[in-house]
Amino acid sequence: MRERHAPPPPAAGKELIAAELAAARARSLAYTDMEDDLLVRQHSPLMSPLVWDLAHVGNYEELWVLRAAGGITPLRPEIDDIYDAFKHPRKDRPSLPLLGPAEARRYISGVRGRVLDVLDAVDLDDPDPLRAGGFVFGLVVQHEHQHDETMLATLQLSGEPGLIQDGELPAGCAQDAGETRSGQDEVFVPPGPFVMGTDALPWAYDNERPSHLMDLPAYWIDRWPVSNGDYLAFIADGGYDDPRWWRPEGWEWVRQKGIHAPLFWTRGGAEGGAGRRTGSHAVHTGNGGRHAAGGDGWWRRRFGRMEPVPLDEPVQHVSWYEADAYARWAGKRLPTEAEWEKACGGRRFPWGDADPRPDQANLGHRAARPAPVGAYPAGAGPYGAEQMIGDVWEWTSSWFQPYPGFRSFPYPEYSEVFFGETYRVLRGGSWATHSAAIRTTFRNWDYPIRRQIFAGFRCARVAG
Ligand SMILES: [Fe+2]
Repeated sequence: MRERHAPPPPAAGKELIAAELAAARARSLAYTDMEDDLLVRQHSPLMSPLVWDLAHVGNYEELWVLRAAGGITPLRPEIDDIYDAFKHPRKDRPSLPLLGPAEARRYISGVRGRVLDVLDAVDLDDPDPLRAGGFVFGLVVQHEHQHDETMLATLQLSGEPGLIQDGELPAGCAQDAGETRSGQDEVFVPPGPFVMGTDALPWAYDNERPSHLMDLPAYWIDRWPVSNGDYLAFIADGGYDDPRWWRPEGWEWVRQKGIHAPLFWTRGGAEGGAGRRTGSHAVHTGNGGRHAAGGDGWWRRRFGRMEPVPLDEPVQHVSWYEADAYARWAGKRLPTEAEWEKACGGRRFPWGDADPRPDQANLGHRAARPAPVGAYPAGAGPYGAEQMIGDVWEWTSSWFQPYPGFRSFPYPEYSEVFFGETYRVLRGGSWATHSAAIRTTFRNWDYPIRRQIFAGFRCARVAG
């Protein structure tokens, strides 16, 4: 009965909640540990100045834990407006009277002290939906990790070198095979019903609820995300110049913007602009993976450094339109989000309900990149799909829509105002996503033109 949800993990205890709060804060402070100038500058009109994100996570904590759940008098009501993401689009945030870096750090640390007092006093068995199972703490922990990932995207866009730690990752399955072991390899998912979404996971968001039965016909889904090597074949085949592969609006977008490769890629490397080029031997893949080295090959800028595009890594920084076009070129299509989720077997994670181990998924910024395809056989789901969790967010063909019986909680601006045919759903989290902020039921969404997020994709097709 692999389609059934296992019993939920016990609601998080106070010690675990405190540890999760601390872990999220450590990340926020690490990603803002730099000169003030880099924190107050707007690196891209797509993103906030980092100092906005920093104070915003504290303000969100004040609103939800201190005021809504704790009934505490507002500490800084006068700054609520500045840090209300719905009042000020990102491009306008640099012109707001933001707290400076030192003041922002003081503010969020003052809020955090009181949050721990509320945690100390709260009854986690209280039936109040904000307090039950520590939901409101889960809300702010996940929110902070989501902003941490956004800050990483800002730092990647900034092109500034030396701000982000890299690290070691397991090797993929390609290195001695002389091939890129691409998403050509597929796994079969038999027909039948499965339970989509969840009622049981205490920190799940409103958009993951309620659980409901979905009956799907049989399909094939790629064993791994599409790799850079696979994607290069699409480019080499003139994929960006052939309207047959593109939705009309996607075709218009690539023509208008002159797009011919994933964001941050450049041919030959020399014209990379911001970023320090490293020789091919200095590339820190840590995995011995193959590269399209120099010359005619493609290079990419990763956190301010130029390096050859590693062929066996999942492609990232592609829009939904590019993912959709690639899939059509490959004779496939993007999976629906139901197909994506069913391939994970109806569990909290593809391997079961236990927290991720380092050999199961590339999460939490262990290194500043996705791991090569085939690096996580121990993280496979029941049908054999690998790297569903971590590495790259995966675009699906689905619009972001409510599940049947959806009820907005704790506020309509979390999910409800985004439902419709504007945003496409992404699943699975990326290397930059923390394990507290991902599960197989987790739904992310973005505009189909967005490329600064750590997103890639895999393909699917109907069986038979
Ligand atoms: Fe936010």
